[in-house]
Amino acid sequence: MVYQIYPRSFADADGDGVGDLKGIRRHLDHLTWLGVDAVWLSPFFRSPMADFGYDVADYCDVDPLFGTLVDFDSLLAEAHDRGLRVLIDWVPNHTSDQHPWFQESRSSRFSAKRDWYVWRDRPNNWKAAFDETQSAWTWDETTGQYYLHLFLPEQPDLNWANPEVVEAMHGVLRFWLDRGVDGFRVDVVHGLGKDPNFPDAPPQTADRAWSGQNDHESTHAILRDLRRLVDAYPGDRVLVGEVYLLSTRQVAAYYGHGDELHLAFNFPPLFAPWESAAWRENVDQVVKELDPRGAWPTWVLSNHDNSRHRTRYGSEARARAAAVLLLTLRGTPFVYAGEELGLEEAWVPPERQVDPGGRDGCRAPIPWDASSGHGWAGEDPWLPWPPEPDARNAAAQREDEDSVLQLYWRLLAARLESVALRLGSWTALPSPPGVLAYEREAEHDRRTVLVNYADDTVEVYVAGSWTIRVASDGHGEGRGYEGILGPSQALVLMPTVPG
Ligand code: NOJ
Repeated sequence: MVYQIYPRSFADADGDGVGDLKGIRRHLDHLTWLGVDAVWLSPFFRSPMADFGYDVADYCDVDPLFGTLVDFDSLLAEAHDRGLRVLIDWVPNHTSDQHPWFQESRSSRFSAKRDWYVWRDRPNNWKAAFDETQSAWTWDETTGQYYLHLFLPEQPDLNWANPEVVEAMHGVLRFWLDRGVDGFRVDVVHGLGKDPNFPDAPPQTADRAWSGQNDHESTHAILRDLRRLVDAYPGDRVLVGEVYLLSTRQVAAYYGHGDELHLAFNFPPLFAPWESAAWRENVDQVVKELDPRGAWPTWVLSNHDNSRHRTRYGSEARARAAAVLLLTLRGTPFVYAGEELGLEEAWVPPERQVDPGGRDGCRAPIPWDASSGHGWAGEDPWLPWPPEPDARNAAAQREDEDSVLQLYWRLLAARLESVALRLGSWTALPSPPGVLAYEREAEHDRRTVLVNYADDTVEVYVAGSWTIRVASDGHGEGRGYEGILGPSQALVLMPTVPG
């Protein structure tokens, strides 16, 4: 399981109200106790924070807000001592407009770095993300041309068709690989290669951001080079790509033939409603597109860009059932910090809203305990607390065996003891409407999983004799399965051992 940390919101050690690397170090215990295999740290690099770190001004240094390179090295060493792998977030599609590369590029049409970014005399019809009424091109007064930015004007797109850009960005990867990181979550990876003719978006999708549509074949050669670079390092280093194309068929192509991304995010399930038929369709799609390539799936319910699934699905019972699903489907699950506490979206009053993409609610600080500062060194974090921090905090839930946190713990323990859950095949089982039922199997190890999407009790027959290993509501664990699934309940069953 990979655990995503959004550093601003995880834990504050220096009292400025913003999370930092030292804060993360203080809570490594939480992660190892839970059973996390790897952490992914969202960007902590030097940045003017127009997009809260996804606008990087120096890829090879830590922003003072988060600490120093020495703090990073200490965090990495301590994580490794505990057997935790560390992935960092690499943002190769764009830099900050404050990056010295862009400053030089925009200084003159004849600058040596002019071609490191995308400059044109005339814009096409591409729209920027966050505000789709805005063009993805901004006019630069000084040099009289437009530059491209799939996101904010403060995030100019790099020109990956320029070999000097490729070399400089490879240098960034080497910098961190040499320091010992275990890999990268690669931001907007499908954005890197662009059609050199910059054709208009088709009329049907012209009003949608181009960042969700760009899917040019030249990206694949870029990825093969990245893969070679990363694989040349000792140990299992990994590239996890954010392919924000909402088609599993398109996402699958980014695994190449085992020579591009090791893993790719597949977001259609994240946007699927909490309905068994929709999920069955999504899982079938993953099997259909990924299996023939030998590609290993990933599963995500929440992250720093989307409303938390506890809020989207509308009840804690459903969020618990979703946790069972997330941690038992075939593939690598990604858990977004705080979902293991069952956190909801925070309500952020207009005067405290800061994100240009309206994503503040899922970025609220993590409450560690019931004290007034909830374990944060400062009393006033950069965003308000999520609902019920007095009860939904890590310390309280660790003591409460009925908590969401304890459910995640039991699910991860169940994975650890079962090769079927970690690596096994996935086979759908017959089930009544509203229920998703499947079997995982490997090396004679078997588990059956039942997920009731409906809010009613339902009978689900499963052939054979089964014991409830994990129940999303904790009911009946250790007892025989009697063919009944409670409202919004999900179960992990293991074969009953006779005797
Ligand atoms: C995807 C990241 O997850 C998001 O937070 C960011 O705003 C965009 N890429 C731009 O870097």
